[in-house]
Amino acid sequence: MNELFSIIWFTPAYVANAAATLSKFLPKTHPIDGGKYCLDGRRILGNGKTWEGLLLGTTLGFVIGYPVLAFFGLGSWSDAFLLSLGALLGDIVGSFVKRRIGLERGEEAPLLDQLDFVFGAFLLDPPLPSWAILILVLTPILHRLANVTAYLLGVKDEPW
Ligand code: CTP
Ligand code: MG
Repeated sequence: MNELFSIIWFTPAYVANAAATLSKFLPKTHPIDGGKYCLDGRRILGNGKTWEGLLLGTTLGFVIGYPVLAFFGLGSWSDAFLLSLGALLGDIVGSFVKRRIGLERGEEAPLLDQLDFVFGAFLLDPPLPSWAILILVLTPILHRLANVTAYLLGVKDEPW
């Protein structure tokens, strides 16, 4: 049962990923790829990955996630920081892959959309295998629920 704490431990990554979407409400954002294209004629990352999203996501993931980890005794400030940053870096790699396989910004990539940030966070702050498995199984479900909610609230443009 102790494995269920893995989901709470992963809070910084979830918050970081969700908070990045709030950057679309900013008056001006700057794409991380600088609007540049790859040799395949497609954007390196696309307009969906911005410096503001990276900064806002990492900051809120840390500021909200750290007290949660501390309260449950699940980690230190470095866990909160690495999980937040790792999640957003994984999400950026996910967009790079999506562009390379010809998907436009916002087009759905099943599993990749739901798990890119998980692998990014795992890479920077590896959990126990049993925790990793539970997070990998539950995240697509939580991700779906969160994104449909964000879509209905008008925070996200697509329900994925
Ligand atoms: N976002 C951002 N910067 C980031 C991550 C996300 O500005 N580093 C914002 C963008 O407004 C983005 C929204 O959060 O449109 C939703 O994120 P996501 O679903 O990951 O991006 P998509 O627009 O679907 O683009 P992609 O196809 O590249 O995943
Ligand atoms: Mg998307």
